[in-house]
Amino acid sequence: MASSMRSLFSDHGRYVESFRRFLNHSTEHQCMLEFMDKKLPGIIARIGDTKSEIKILSIGGGAGEIDLQILSKVQAQYPGVCINNEVVEPSAEQIAKYKELVAKTSNLKNIKFAWHKETSSEYQSRILEKKELQKWDFIHMIQMLYYVKDVPATLKFFHSLLGTSAKMLIILVSGSSGWAKLWEKYGSRLPRDDLCLYITSSHLTQMLDNLGLKYECYDLLSTMDISDCFIDGNENGDLLWDFLTETCNFNATAPPDLKAEIAKDLQEPEFSAKKEGTDLTW
Ligand SMILES: C[S@@+](CC[C@H](N)C(=O)[O-])C[C@H]1O[C@@H](n2cnc3c(N)ncnc32)[C@H](O)[C@@H]1O
Repeated sequence: MASSMRSLFSDHGRYVESFRRFLNHSTEHQCMLEFMDKKLPGIIARIGDTKSEIKILSIGGGAGEIDLQILSKVQAQYPGVCINNEVVEPSAEQIAKYKELVAKTSNLKNIKFAWHKETSSEYQSRILEKKELQKWDFIHMIQMLYYVKDVPATLKFFHSLLGTSAKMLIILVSGSSGWAKLWEKYGSRLPRDDLCLYITSSHLTQMLDNLGLKYECYDLLSTMDISDCFIDGNENGDLLWDFLTETCNFNATAPPDLKAEIAKDLQEPEFSAKKEGTDLTW
């Protein structure tokens, strides 16, 4: 690996921007919303039974779009019950966006929000130190476990915070997705600086089995338009490359042979499908 390559997560501003571009060029959030409509009500059906307040912990809640959908489903399930929604999110920029979204969203009556600008492990250390092990009714970790250093320890700790009838929801890329194939094949040549683990749902289920935790799996089908990745000098394409490879300025810093190999693979049917003549979907 060339020494100038570094993890995308080492530059928070660029990370957030490339994540935004990814969201704009993928069905990521649409398929999550569909999941929240169709499956979440069943999953949370009993989390608030006999409780005067429902406590929700969002780990890596980002700008809050998905969190607010989750909250609307909990409100629908338990009309009028107070909800305490706490968010553990290390990016100040994401927290600011989350607060803006809350400020302009109606129907959030009965919901108390609190944001903690910290990582999951900082949160863990803080509450262990304070001996404040309060229980939660719903904990979610949506597309964030890649950035945690010790995933099994994190799972074990947050699972221990679940109260009676509580549930935990984790979303990660599928072990059979294009992402998984890309990371399996090229992960060892991409930045390995501890900031991003190329983990997928297959690793996760293995860890849950090792911990002896019970779980259910659901498949969400998300696609990404990667056409801009094949236009030289396209800013959007550059940012999408960064997000795909979790590498900061991939196009400027990756060895040419690595970029050529990945670019070739991305156009193979095993990794992507052509739609409407020119678009490549992931
Ligand atoms: C891919 S984004 C997902 C955001 C949101 N959950 C969504 O799906 O729209 C990952 C988020 O996790 C946050 N994050 C990264 N490392 C984290 C950590 N160690 N603990 C908590 N959050 C983290 C990032 O700042 C970012 O907002």
